[in-house]
Amino acid sequence: MYKNAYISAVAHYVPEKVLTNFDLEKMVDTSGEWIRTRTGIKERRILEDGKATSDMAAEAVKNICKLRGIDPMEIEGIIVATVTPDMFFPSTGNLVQEKSGAKNAWSFDVAAACSGFLYALSIGTQYIKAGTHSKIVVVGADKMSAITNYRDRNTCVLFGDAAGAVLLEPTDDEQIGLIDFMLFSDGSGAEYLKLKAGGSLYPASLETVANDWHFIYQDGKYVFKFAVSKMAEVAVNIIEKHGYSGKDLKLFVPHQANLRIIDATVKRLGIDYDKVMINIEKFGNTTAATIPLALSEAWEQGKLNKNDLVLFATFGGGFTWGSTLLRWAYDK
Ligand code: COA
Repeated sequence: MYKNAYISAVAHYVPEKVLTNFDLEKMVDTSGEWIRTRTGIKERRILEDGKATSDMAAEAVKNICKLRGIDPMEIEGIIVATVTPDMFFPSTGNLVQEKSGAKNAWSFDVAAACSGFLYALSIGTQYIKAGTHSKIVVVGADKMSAITNYRDRNTCVLFGDAAGAVLLEPTDDEQIGLIDFMLFSDGSGAEYLKLKAGGSLYPASLETVANDWHFIYQDGKYVFKFAVSKMAEVAVNIIEKHGYSGKDLKLFVPHQANLRIIDATVKRLGIDYDKVMINIEKFGNTTAATIPLALSEAWEQGKLNKNDLVLFATFGGGFTWGSTLLRWAYDK
């Protein structure tokens, strides 16, 4: 019998503390105007000290259970996409399982930087399609403030903290659900966007700390060029593969790294801005969380209806990039 996976609920969690462009002007040599015009970002959320990625992710999972009206004990698997795990091991997924009360779920992490959520979503979808599972939670969560150097104006203006999650369930309805994924990697891009130390190559030492190697390093210009071309390409390719054009799309939810990267993709797709979910001005780049966070806000704002053709597209460190096409399954 035909079985597809569909998103049956979407939720998010963002910390209360707001770090504005004005605040950053007092921390590094920058201006709110520069940040806004070059990136589209006005403010971002920062998680309090003593809390970690798993705390935000667990809140998103609890919110999803409330929205869907299920007990966390009904969840069978939790997949967490993140580049800021609480610690190397156990996985953040394990900590989320405990903190959200989903004690019957197995759990693990996926590392694909800003593309992590789409990679994790593709894995969760396979469990549902295989017919072995009926409730998988896929989370994208990052505490980017933990790896951001607030003395480096090139990177500290870009990132924020957040978590978003979706619940995947099976359906017999061929008109709804996940249609396709296109995922790509190019390891030659590794050197342009990375967190150099703390792994097996450069374990923590006085030298790694003194050199700021535990913070994000990015060659912004190079990453920007690659991101603009690849995100637009993969967004267009997936809709054309299925015989659609931009006109058929009801909502495009792009990774929120830079408004100018989103603009370039929107132009290539030939769609109007009222079909694009943008919230980068409020949250900045929350890495694995951007797409589920934007999807959750889109749903709250009534932008998603049953049978709507929805496109996700992303680009991130690795390099990794990808797109997902789906038909939304339920009205608000
Ligand atoms: N405030 C003021 N000036 C800044 C600044 C800041 N916060 N950050 C950088 N600058 C300066 C640079 O030092 C540079 O000065 P210089 O010419 O004297 O060396 C100047 O602004 C221009 O830098 P440039 O890199 O050309 O800016 P840009 O238009 O490319 O914007 C980014 C910089 C980082 C916003 C942009 O490159 C970007 O978004 N890159 C991709 C980021 C991304 O998507 N990363 C994640 C992938 S998921």
